[in-house]
Amino acid sequence: MTDAAPRPAAQPQPAPRLVIAVDGPAASGKGTVAKALARHYGLPYLDTGKLYRATGLALRLAGRDPGDAAAAAHAAEHLEPALLDAPDLMSAANSEAASIVSAHPAVRAALLARQQAFAAQAGGAVLDGRDIGTVIAPDAPAKLFVTATPAVRAARRHRELAASGDGRDFEMVLADINARDARDSGRSAAPLRQAADAALLDTSELDIVAAVARAIALVEQALSGIRQHQG
Ligand code: C5P
Repeated sequence: MTDAAPRPAAQPQPAPRLVIAVDGPAASGKGTVAKALARHYGLPYLDTGKLYRATGLALRLAGRDPGDAAAAAHAAEHLEPALLDAPDLMSAANSEAASIVSAHPAVRAALLARQQAFAAQAGGAVLDGRDIGTVIAPDAPAKLFVTATPAVRAARRHRELAASGDGRDFEMVLADINARDARDSGRSAAPLRQAADAALLDTSELDIVAAVARAIALVEQALSGIRQHQG
Protein backbone atom coordinates (compact mmCIF):
# COMPACT_ATOMS: atom_id res chain seq x y z
CA MET A 1 0.00 0.00 0.00
CA THR A 2 1.40 3.42 -0.93
CA ASP A 3 0.79 6.62 0.95
CA ALA A 4 -1.21 8.73 -1.47
CA ALA A 5 -0.78 12.46 -0.98
CA PRO A 6 -4.01 13.95 0.43
CA ARG A 7 -6.06 15.57 -2.31
CA PRO A 8 -6.80 19.24 -1.77
CA ALA A 9 -10.50 19.75 -0.98
CA ALA A 10 -12.42 21.21 -3.90
CA GLN A 11 -12.83 24.93 -3.33
CA PRO A 12 -16.31 26.36 -3.95
CA GLN A 13 -16.06 28.63 -7.00
CA PRO A 14 -17.34 32.16 -6.45
CA ALA A 15 -19.92 33.28 -9.02
CA PRO A 16 -18.10 35.24 -11.74
CA ARG A 17 -18.44 39.02 -11.51
CA LEU A 18 -20.95 40.21 -14.07
CA VAL A 19 -21.45 43.82 -15.14
CA ILE A 20 -24.19 44.48 -17.68
CA ALA A 21 -24.26 47.88 -19.39
CA VAL A 22 -27.59 48.92 -20.91
CA ASP A 23 -27.74 52.13 -22.94
CA GLY A 24 -30.28 53.68 -25.25
CA PRO A 25 -32.52 56.67 -25.93
CA ALA A 26 -35.60 57.75 -23.97
CA ALA A 27 -38.53 55.30 -23.85
CA SER A 28 -36.59 52.62 -25.73
CA GLY A 29 -37.46 50.06 -23.06
CA LYS A 30 -33.92 50.03 -21.62
CA GLY A 31 -35.12 50.51 -18.03
CA THR A 32 -37.57 47.62 -18.24
CA VAL A 33 -34.95 45.41 -19.87
CA ALA A 34 -32.22 46.40 -17.37
CA LYS A 35 -34.47 45.74 -14.36
CA ALA A 36 -35.46 42.33 -15.75
CA LEU A 37 -31.79 41.44 -16.37
CA ALA A 38 -30.94 42.45 -12.79
CA ARG A 39 -33.70 40.14 -11.49
CA HIS A 40 -32.68 37.31 -13.80
CA TYR A 41 -28.99 37.40 -12.81
CA GLY A 42 -29.60 38.42 -9.16
CA LEU A 43 -27.63 41.67 -9.52
CA PRO A 44 -28.12 45.15 -8.05
CA TYR A 45 -29.51 47.71 -10.50
CA LEU A 46 -28.86 51.43 -10.97
CA ASP A 47 -30.98 53.72 -13.14
CA THR A 48 -28.31 56.39 -13.81
CA GLY A 49 -30.87 58.69 -15.46
CA LYS A 50 -32.22 59.36 -11.95
CA LEU A 51 -28.93 61.04 -10.98
CA TYR A 52 -29.26 63.51 -13.86
CA ARG A 53 -32.97 63.93 -13.17
CA ALA A 54 -32.28 64.68 -9.49
CA THR A 55 -29.64 67.23 -10.52
CA GLY A 56 -32.12 68.93 -12.86
CA LEU A 57 -34.80 68.88 -10.17
CA ALA A 58 -32.46 70.43 -7.57
CA LEU A 59 -31.91 73.37 -9.93
CA ARG A 60 -35.60 73.76 -10.73
CA LEU A 61 -36.50 73.72 -7.03
CA ALA A 62 -33.84 76.36 -6.37
CA GLY A 63 -35.20 78.48 -9.24
CA ARG A 64 -31.91 78.13 -11.14
CA ASP A 65 -31.40 77.67 -14.89
CA PRO A 66 -30.38 74.09 -15.84
CA GLY A 67 -28.15 75.70 -18.49
CA ASP A 68 -26.01 77.27 -15.74
CA ALA A 69 -23.01 74.89 -15.72
CA ALA A 70 -21.54 76.02 -12.38
CA ALA A 71 -24.87 75.79 -10.54
CA ALA A 72 -25.58 72.40 -12.14
CA ALA A 73 -22.15 71.03 -11.15
CA HIS A 74 -22.69 72.25 -7.58
CA ALA A 75 -26.11 70.53 -7.50
CA ALA A 76 -24.62 67.27 -8.83
CA GLU A 77 -21.83 67.36 -6.23
CA HIS A 78 -24.31 67.88 -3.39
CA LEU A 79 -27.20 65.68 -4.51
CA GLU A 80 -29.84 65.17 -1.84
CA PRO A 81 -30.73 61.44 -1.73
CA ALA A 82 -34.42 62.30 -1.13
CA LEU A 83 -34.60 63.91 -4.58
CA LEU A 84 -34.04 60.48 -6.18
CA ASP A 85 -37.56 59.54 -5.05
CA ALA A 86 -39.26 62.90 -5.64
CA PRO A 87 -42.70 62.68 -7.33
CA ASP A 88 -41.69 65.18 -10.03
CA LEU A 89 -38.51 63.26 -10.94
CA MET A 90 -40.00 61.55 -14.01
CA SER A 91 -42.17 64.43 -15.29
CA ALA A 92 -41.75 65.81 -18.81
CA ALA A 93 -40.50 69.17 -17.50
CA ASN A 94 -37.88 67.40 -15.45
CA SER A 95 -36.83 65.18 -18.37
CA GLU A 96 -35.88 68.30 -20.24
CA ALA A 97 -33.96 69.75 -17.28
CA ALA A 98 -32.11 66.42 -16.86
CA SER A 99 -31.15 66.39 -20.52
CA ILE A 100 -29.83 69.99 -20.28
CA VAL A 101 -27.76 69.46 -17.12
CA SER A 102 -26.35 66.19 -18.44
CA ALA A 103 -24.55 68.03 -21.27
CA HIS A 104 -22.30 69.89 -18.79
CA PRO A 105 -18.96 68.03 -18.51
CA ALA A 106 -18.62 69.12 -14.84
CA VAL A 107 -21.98 67.49 -14.02
CA ARG A 108 -20.92 64.23 -15.66
CA ALA A 109 -17.58 64.37 -13.80
CA ALA A 110 -19.39 64.91 -10.47
CA LEU A 111 -21.59 61.83 -11.02
CA LEU A 112 -18.90 59.54 -12.46
CA ALA A 113 -17.34 58.10 -9.28
CA ARG A 114 -20.62 57.01 -7.76
CA GLN A 115 -21.69 55.21 -10.94
CA GLN A 116 -18.29 53.51 -11.27
CA ALA A 117 -18.38 52.46 -7.60
CA PHE A 118 -21.81 50.90 -8.19
CA ALA A 119 -20.44 48.98 -11.20
CA ALA A 120 -17.42 47.82 -9.18
CA GLN A 121 -19.45 45.92 -6.54
CA ALA A 122 -18.12 42.46 -5.75
CA GLY A 123 -20.71 40.41 -7.62
CA GLY A 124 -21.27 42.94 -10.39
CA ALA A 125 -24.25 45.08 -11.31
CA VAL A 126 -26.63 46.20 -14.02
CA LEU A 127 -26.60 49.90 -14.93
CA ASP A 128 -28.68 51.70 -17.50
CA GLY A 129 -28.16 55.11 -19.07
CA ARG A 130 -26.56 56.73 -22.07
CA ASP A 131 -22.81 56.21 -21.56
CA ILE A 132 -22.55 53.06 -19.45
CA GLY A 133 -20.90 50.93 -22.15
CA THR A 134 -18.74 53.77 -23.45
CA VAL A 135 -17.61 55.68 -20.32
CA ILE A 136 -18.82 54.27 -16.99
CA ALA A 137 -18.08 50.57 -17.53
CA PRO A 138 -16.22 50.25 -20.84
CA ASP A 139 -14.91 46.80 -19.79
CA ALA A 140 -18.36 45.37 -19.03
CA PRO A 141 -18.52 41.84 -20.47
CA ALA A 142 -22.12 42.32 -21.61
CA LYS A 143 -23.41 45.49 -23.26
CA LEU A 144 -26.77 46.16 -24.83
CA PHE A 145 -27.89 49.17 -26.84
CA VAL A 146 -31.67 49.24 -26.65
CA THR A 147 -33.57 51.32 -29.17
CA ALA A 148 -36.88 51.72 -31.03
CA THR A 149 -38.16 54.13 -33.66
CA PRO A 150 -38.95 57.66 -32.40
CA ALA A 151 -42.67 57.14 -33.21
CA VAL A 152 -42.85 53.94 -31.14
CA ARG A 153 -40.97 55.55 -28.24
CA ALA A 154 -43.21 58.63 -28.36
CA ALA A 155 -46.33 56.42 -28.35
CA ARG A 156 -45.05 54.60 -25.24
CA ARG A 157 -44.22 57.84 -23.44
CA HIS A 158 -47.58 59.33 -24.51
CA ARG A 159 -49.40 56.35 -22.93
CA GLU A 160 -47.36 56.65 -19.71
CA LEU A 161 -48.01 60.39 -19.45
CA ALA A 162 -51.74 59.93 -20.15
CA ALA A 163 -51.91 57.28 -17.40
CA SER A 164 -50.35 59.75 -14.96
CA GLY A 165 -52.91 62.42 -15.88
CA ASP A 166 -50.65 64.48 -18.19
CA GLY A 167 -52.82 65.30 -21.21
CA ARG A 168 -50.19 66.52 -23.68
CA ASP A 169 -50.79 65.33 -27.24
CA PHE A 170 -48.77 62.82 -29.22
CA GLU A 171 -47.11 65.41 -31.49
CA MET A 172 -45.80 67.29 -28.47
CA VAL A 173 -44.41 64.12 -26.92
CA LEU A 174 -42.75 63.18 -30.22
CA ALA A 175 -41.17 66.64 -30.45
CA ASP A 176 -39.84 66.29 -26.87
CA ILE A 177 -38.37 62.87 -27.66
CA ASN A 178 -36.70 64.19 -30.83
CA ALA A 179 -35.28 67.22 -28.99
CA ARG A 180 -33.92 65.02 -26.19
CA ASP A 181 -32.40 62.56 -28.71
CA ALA A 182 -30.70 65.43 -30.55
CA ARG A 183 -29.31 66.90 -27.31
CA ASP A 184 -28.18 63.53 -25.88
CA SER A 185 -26.51 62.41 -29.14
CA GLY A 186 -25.15 65.82 -30.17
CA ARG A 187 -23.40 66.86 -26.94
CA SER A 188 -19.62 66.63 -26.82
CA ALA A 189 -19.44 65.13 -23.28
CA ALA A 190 -20.20 61.40 -23.38
CA PRO A 191 -22.80 61.54 -26.16
CA LEU A 192 -25.41 58.82 -26.52
CA ARG A 193 -23.98 56.25 -28.90
CA GLN A 194 -23.78 52.50 -29.26
CA ALA A 195 -20.46 51.10 -27.95
CA ALA A 196 -18.58 49.21 -30.66
CA ASP A 197 -18.95 45.97 -28.69
CA ALA A 198 -22.60 46.45 -27.65
CA ALA A 199 -25.36 44.21 -29.02
CA LEU A 200 -28.27 46.08 -30.62
CA LEU A 201 -31.77 45.34 -29.31
CA ASP A 202 -34.52 47.04 -31.32
CA THR A 203 -37.74 46.83 -29.32
CA SER A 204 -39.95 48.59 -31.92
CA GLU A 205 -41.88 45.41 -32.66
CA LEU A 206 -41.36 43.52 -29.40
CA ASP A 207 -43.58 43.37 -26.35
CA ILE A 208 -41.94 43.36 -22.89
CA VAL A 209 -41.76 39.56 -22.60
CA ALA A 210 -40.13 39.21 -26.02
CA ALA A 211 -37.74 42.11 -25.40
CA VAL A 212 -36.57 40.63 -22.10
CA ALA A 213 -36.14 37.15 -23.61
CA ARG A 214 -34.05 38.63 -26.42
CA ALA A 215 -31.98 40.67 -23.93
CA ILE A 216 -31.16 37.55 -21.89
CA ALA A 217 -30.22 35.70 -25.08
CA LEU A 218 -27.90 38.56 -26.12
CA VAL A 219 -26.21 38.62 -22.69
CA GLU A 220 -25.73 34.84 -22.82
CA GLN A 221 -24.28 35.17 -26.31
CA ALA A 222 -21.80 37.82 -25.11
CA LEU A 223 -20.77 35.68 -22.12
CA SER A 224 -20.32 32.54 -24.18
CA GLY A 225 -18.18 34.52 -26.65
CA ILE A 226 -15.95 35.56 -23.74
CA ARG A 227 -15.77 31.99 -22.37
CA GLN A 228 -14.71 30.67 -25.80
CA HIS A 229 -12.13 33.41 -26.08
CA GLN A 230 -10.74 32.51 -22.65
CA GLY A 231 -10.98 28.89 -23.11
O1 C5P B 1 -32.80 57.64 -18.74
P1 C5P B 1 -33.61 58.88 -18.53
O2 C5P B 1 -34.47 59.23 -19.70
O3 C5P B 1 -34.35 58.90 -17.24
O4 C5P B 1 -32.50 60.04 -18.40
C1 C5P B 1 -32.84 61.40 -18.29
C2 C5P B 1 -31.76 62.22 -19.00
O5 C5P B 1 -30.53 62.09 -18.28
C3 C5P B 1 -31.47 61.80 -20.43
O6 C5P B 1 -32.24 62.48 -21.39
C4 C5P B 1 -30.00 62.14 -20.60
O7 C5P B 1 -29.87 63.47 -21.04
C5 C5P B 1 -29.44 62.08 -19.19
N1 C5P B 1 -28.62 60.88 -18.96
C6 C5P B 1 -27.31 60.92 -19.37
N2 C5P B 1 -26.48 59.88 -19.10
C7 C5P B 1 -26.94 58.80 -18.45
C8 C5P B 1 -28.30 58.72 -18.06
C9 C5P B 1 -29.13 59.78 -18.35
O8 C5P B 1 -26.88 61.88 -19.98
N3 C5P B 1 -26.09 57.80 -18.16
